[in-house]
Amino acid sequence: MKLSITILPGDGIGPEVVAEAMKVLEAVASKFGHELDVSAHPFGSSGLESAGSGFPDETRDACMSSPAIFLGAVGDPRHDHLPPNERPEKALLHLRRLIESFANLRPVVAQFVSPTSPFKSETLKGVDLLIVRELTGGLYFGEPRGFEGEGKDRRAINTLRYSTHEIDRIARVGFDAAMKRRRHVTSVDKSNVLETSKLWREVVDSVAKDYPDVKLEHMLVDRAAMEIIANPASIDVMLTSNLFGDILSDEASMLAGSMGLLPSASLGGKIGLYEPVHGSAPDIVGKGIANPVGAIASMAMMLLYSFDLEDEAKLVERGIESSFAAGCVTADLSDTPKSTEDVGDHIARFVADA
Ligand code: IPM
Ligand code: MN
Repeated sequence: MKLSITILPGDGIGPEVVAEAMKVLEAVASKFGHELDVSAHPFGSSGLESAGSGFPDETRDACMSSPAIFLGAVGDPRHDHLPPNERPEKALLHLRRLIESFANLRPVVAQFVSPTSPFKSETLKGVDLLIVRELTGGLYFGEPRGFEGEGKDRRAINTLRYSTHEIDRIARVGFDAAMKRRRHVTSVDKSNVLETSKLWREVVDSVAKDYPDVKLEHMLVDRAAMEIIANPASIDVMLTSNLFGDILSDEASMLAGSMGLLPSASLGGKIGLYEPVHGSAPDIVGKGIANPVGAIASMAMMLLYSFDLEDEAKLVERGIESSFAAGCVTADLSDTPKSTEDVGDHIARFVADA
């Protein structure tokens, strides 16, 4: 099979973790006889610098011409002074909108109990949850937005807006996922305060009627933040709006051991977007300590969701498990760490030798 993929290494540690994921992808391709058709393009701060735009036209054309996009990370402190509309992060939001990837899947599994974990091992037992985050609506995109007025009258405005259609389609992704898992959906909102959340609850309730085998629980977002810490193993699918999912997924990443472990897939349109959940981590760039597992696990999600290659995806996941079992992990997880490259090499070798 020919695997056409647009690669956006992006900023900060993005290129470092993408390089390791590519190593693993090459091992998969040669083992299973797939042909790789990959090309890398500037995006985010690196796009601003090399092409004067966070999302250059040339990159946009490449993104639209392949079924899968693989992204490292965006963001650079050198561009922090820019207005929201010109920041590198805006490129990512544009991309998500452009390809209509409204459903962001963020699995969190506690596979590796690290000595650096703030959790007791009993709390982590059986933790295997999936955050299904709405990705192309809500506070991130609502209009009107912007600044107005001067001096003490200067104001900033963002709008939280959700339509029935947007809630319905993300809820169905959550329930469909639950059907393949433990059949439990925890829908997160703030319906004691927000109108958008009241609508969210109504629409999720009506979608639930089509899934009689799935247990639905509504939970206020503040309590959800607490349950992720107190009873994480009781959560199966957590269904959230855009901003709530952004916040809760960083929180939940600590259950896995580190931000650096979490993968994501953004689906819904014809093109899939795969990226580790972590950011560009400018403080650790070039040190060889970035954790490549989030990126490598995102590659496994790409093999599964965009190319339907289940055996290949499973093998990559087993490679990740093998790196944990061998203690081949980066500094975020161990006091006797291995480098970014060592971890990538271990997983690529596991795939090649399997
Ligand atoms: C994420 C990131 C992005 C988001 C940023 C970089 C715009 O934090 O993917 O979680 O907020 O969605
Ligand atoms: Mn985030």
